[in-house]
Formats: sequence, C-alpha cells, structure tokens
Amino acid sequence: MRSPLVVFTLIFMAIIVPIAAAQKVELSIDASKTGAKIDRNIFGQFAEHLGHGIYEGIWVGPDSKIPNTRGIRNDVVGALKAIKVPNVRWPGGCFADEYHWRNGIGPQRSVTLNPNWGGVTEANTFGTREFMDFIDQIGAEAYISVNVGSGTPQEAAEWLEYMTAAAPTTLVKERAANGHPAPYKVALLGIGNESWDCGGNMTADYYVSQMKIYSRFVRNFNPAQQDKQQMLKIAVGPGGDGARWTDWTETVMKAYQQHTWSWDINGLSMHNYTVVHWPPSYTSVGFGETEYSQILKSTLEMDGLISKHSAIMDKYDPDKKVALIVDEWGGWYAPLPGSNPGFLVQQNSLRDAILAALNLNIFGRHADRVRGANIAQMINVLQAMIMTDKEKMVLTPTYYVFKMYVPFQDATFIPVTFDAGWYTHGAVAIPRLDAIAAKDTNGKLWLEITNLDPNEAVEIEAGLAGITAKSASGETLTAPKVDSVNTFDAANTVTPKPISATVQAGKLTLKLEPKSVTVVSVEQ
Ligand code: AHR
Repeated sequence: MRSPLVVFTLIFMAIIVPIAAAQKVELSIDASKTGAKIDRNIFGQFAEHLGHGIYEGIWVGPDSKIPNTRGIRNDVVGALKAIKVPNVRWPGGCFADEYHWRNGIGPQRSVTLNPNWGGVTEANTFGTREFMDFIDQIGAEAYISVNVGSGTPQEAAEWLEYMTAAAPTTLVKERAANGHPAPYKVALLGIGNESWDCGGNMTADYYVSQMKIYSRFVRNFNPAQQDKQQMLKIAVGPGGDGARWTDWTETVMKAYQQHTWSWDINGLSMHNYTVVHWPPSYTSVGFGETEYSQILKSTLEMDGLISKHSAIMDKYDPDKKVALIVDEWGGWYAPLPGSNPGFLVQQNSLRDAILAALNLNIFGRHADRVRGANIAQMINVLQAMIMTDKEKMVLTPTYYVFKMYVPFQDATFIPVTFDAGWYTHGAVAIPRLDAIAAKDTNGKLWLEITNLDPNEAVEIEAGLAGITAKSASGETLTAPKVDSVNTFDAANTVTPKPISATVQAGKLTLKLEPKSVTVVSVEQ
C-alpha cells in the first residue's frame, strides 16, 4: 500500500503538473526591419439594415427614453469611440442592392420592405443624414455601398451629388433644407455588393460592364476630396477560393489593367466568413474543444485565400495600386434559438476573440495588399462588437480585441519569426501560437501574441533587436472556457486584464495563459 503522502503527491502532480507545464516559444523581432503600414481601415466595421443592427442597436429615435443624441444611442457611441472605428460600411450587404436612398431623406420617410432579412418593414427613419450624423459622432468615415443590382447609375450618381456637391444645385439645396448645407465626405464607395449572388447574380463580364459605368458616372464632388482625400472606389470581388472566384478576380483585374482615363477602381472587395459549411450550423455558445479547434482551423484559411487572390492581382497590378478590401469577415454561426433566423443573432465568445485576433494578424501580414477590412457586423448581428437589449448594452470579447489592437492602426509592420509548435485536437492540428509586431506612429513597439492552445500556457522569450528595450507592459484577454461570453447580467467574464512582462538584456519574457490574446508594448 502507498503512504498517504505518496498518494497526495501523485494526485497533486496529476492536477497541477499539466496546468503548470508551459511550452516555451522563442520569438525574434528586429524593429529595424519594417514592412508595410497596417492601414487603420482594416479595423473597419459593417452596419447593415438587418435585424437589430441599426434599429435598436444604433437608432432609438430622439423621443426614446434611452439616452441619445438626435436619436443615436449615447452608450453605443461612447463604446465605439473607444475603439477608434476608422470607417463604417453602410447600408449593406444584400440590403444595399435593394436600397433606394430617396426613401431615407427628408421629413417624410417611405416605409418599405426588407425581403433579404426577415421580410420585415423598413421604416427608413435611419437614412443618409442619420448615418452621417452617427459616423460623425463616433469619429469614423463613410463607406457607402451603392445599389447596382436594382438601382441605376443615375440613382447612384444623384445620391453622390446629394451627399458631396458644394455648388448650389437642386439636390444640394435639398440637402441643405434637410439640415446639412456643407458637403458630406464619402471616403469609400462600394460599387455593388456580392453582385455574383444576392446583388444580382451577374456574370463577371456583365458586372465589369456595369462597374465601368458606375465608376465613370458616380462622382464625388466634395471640393476637399479631389486630391489626396480622393474617394476610393471598391469593385465587387471574390467570395471564396474555387474557380468561380479566381475567375471573377481575373476578370475584374484584367479589366482594371486596361482601364482608361474614363474609369478606375482603387480596391477589390473580398468576402469570407468562418462557417465551416453552409448553412451555418455551429453554435455560438455551449460548444466544446472540438468545435473550438475546427472553427479556428477554418478561420486560418483566410491567409491562403488572400494569398491566392493577391497573386492574381499581382499579375495585373504589380505595383499594388488596387487594395484588397475584406469588407465582410467573421464567424457566422447558427441563429440563437428563439431569435428570428433572418436577424442573424448569435453569441460572441472567447473563441470569437481569438478568431478576430488571428484574422487581424493575417491582414497585418498582408498589409501591402490588404488595406481595408470590415468585420460583420458591428452591433447585434453576426460577430458583433456590441449587443443591446432595449436600454441594456454589453461589449463582446471581439470588442475588446479591437480595443487592444488600437495601437496597430496605421502602425508599421515588423516581422516576427518563431516556431509556433502545434496544438492538436482530434483530427485538427493548427499552430499553437500566432504573433504580430508593429511600430506605432510615435515609434513605440507593440507585440500581439495569441495562444490558440486551450489547455497549455506558453512561456514567451522574445529577442528584441533594433531597439534598446527597457520595460514592457500589456493586457491579456482570456476566460475560464472557450465558449465564455459576456452577458447583460455578467458583462465582465471576458475582459482584458493587465499582464506582467519583463525585459532584461534585450529579451522580453512573459507567460501566456491558454486560449488568450495578449498585447504588449515595449518602452525604450
Ligand atoms: O452579413 C450578412 C450578409 O452576408 C450580407 O448582407 C451579404 O453581403 C453576405 O452574404
């Protein structure tokens, strides 16, 4: 028989040793080796007229008891200001190709239908003026998607004249009468949305002929946007990696190569959701390690997809003048039980925080080509930043990732080399670790490290060359379970906490918790 002490020791080791055992990963960072600028627009948001994304999520109306400024809820504005949203894509999505802007201006709004999303009525009380007011309140720029599917070039051209012109035309006087004499700024213009599917089921050739017409006639007249502040025109691009999508990219980019003085594009859109298979069946909460590992494996495919389409773009645009704009991305899961399936309501867990970090890092590594991205969608829809329920608001784990990444906006990419090792579960084998580094506009070094492994901690030892590092500090985001969420009643389950990091003799050391996202800054 074993003595009680031996038994205790064995039990202690069985419980403690796996938790204490941390893998060691060495990183190497040379701050003098800089790459492309990580465009702040890769932290863009997407707000479609879908479910409670706009109505209730942003717009409650000026008479609401929920504190608001001209109908726009103050709590949501405050939260979004803190993550420095660079741009908001609006009004869709599939909704954009059925949107007629005149329904959403002036004192009398037409009530229309929203056949794409739950077949509900669309009050149009949130229109051009309200959207522009909203982005002004949060400090973001406008990314307007014009209707190519069921609209006309004339309708889109007149919308742009209404929004951007300064000369006293009839449309400009109408804008002034509707409360905004000064021209609005439109930073980005989407020429259609998913024109290969909900946007009109067009062939690539047919789309290109439409796109040229819109590019020619849908002008931005804002006097302040004629040179460096020029509006960027984004063409519809691929939605996957099969031949259908590579052919689409080939067709649009080949046309671009031969563009003339009369039309141009500055970007190609790409949509890629993490779904595993359609229709979305993975649950957004109440899942285990199997679903966790499968979703992360699937999301990492974003890298190959970008590489594939970038390679096609390189053939026709070697100077990388046309940006790849991943203007719909994120996890898309089964609708929450009891919700309207057309409203795309899902929970947002620690898994989504890790998913977001992995994608942001992929965009950062492709910063020379990927100069914009819009997570789908900002509030109450799909992988949201914020959820609301009447007067209540909760910030999701994904929100906190966007907050932690603020220093990476417009920072300069710095390569990180490391041997990540593997995290395996069942048939899934994915790198245990991911990392990205950048120098901000003040020259400060920032490092993000994601530990994908939900079971094992990782000891990081990062060699820092090219700077004289003195100290480091940072924050980490983790939670008890892979499917931990923030709720209205327990809003702080997944929130960033300070992490201790030390710098000695040019080496940064810190310990990463399992399933965590960590951002560290280095003082020089
Ligand atoms: O984000 C939801 C929908 O997904 C968008 O409306 C559409 O563009 C995409 O298919």
